[in-house]
Amino acid sequence: MTDVRAICAIGLRGQLGLHGRMPWEGERGRAFREDVARFFEITRGHVLLAGPRTIASVPEFAKADRTVAVIHSSEAPAEVLARYPGRVVFIGGGPAVWDAYAPFIRHWDVTRLPYDGDADRWFKPEWLTAGGAGA
Ligand SMILES: NC(=O)c1ccc[n+]([C@@H]2O[C@H](COP(=O)([O-])OP(=O)(O)OC[C@H]3O[C@@H](n4cnc5c(N)ncnc54)[C@H](OP(=O)(O)O)[C@@H]3O)[C@@H](O)[C@H]2O)c1
Repeated sequence: MTDVRAICAIGLRGQLGLHGRMPWEGERGRAFREDVARFFEITRGHVLLAGPRTIASVPEFAKADRTVAVIHSSEAPAEVLARYPGRVVFIGGGPAVWDAYAPFIRHWDVTRLPYDGDADRWFKPEWLTAGGAGA
């Protein structure tokens, strides 16, 4: 059995990404810094799975104390998750990944940040209620 979770940070209207990065990239405010620190704290020792663009932004140091792997649309989510029995697996996005894995996720960790600018990737509330995989 794999404990499947999701972790993300969103802007005030559900903004997730912009031009391949976090929309608030470069913001130095306390809420933003705390969110980054919390992400590394919560995922430490666990598995982080995400699409290629999201994994590309994971710094090298983070790979020392967590399992980080790229996932692809050619792989069946149930088969991917079965590779990590007994582990806590965080599904880290982007949106197409959460579309596919939402039915398996039993815990969502969503931080709302004080950002209200542009985005080209958005959080979908329906991920929280996606049924189908006996999560
Ligand atoms: N705010 C946050 O917490 C947060 C978190 C994550 C990402 N983001 C932002 O989101 C953006 C990156 O996301 P993205 O969607 O552009 O790219 P992505 O992270 O590469 O995710 C999408 C890709 O995941 C792969 N994938 C793996 N399993 C899949 C499946 N079962 N079904 C469909 N696709 C699957 C596909 O790549 P293949 O075609 O290679 O299979 C797809 O193109 C960036 O702006 C990033 O900063 C924000």
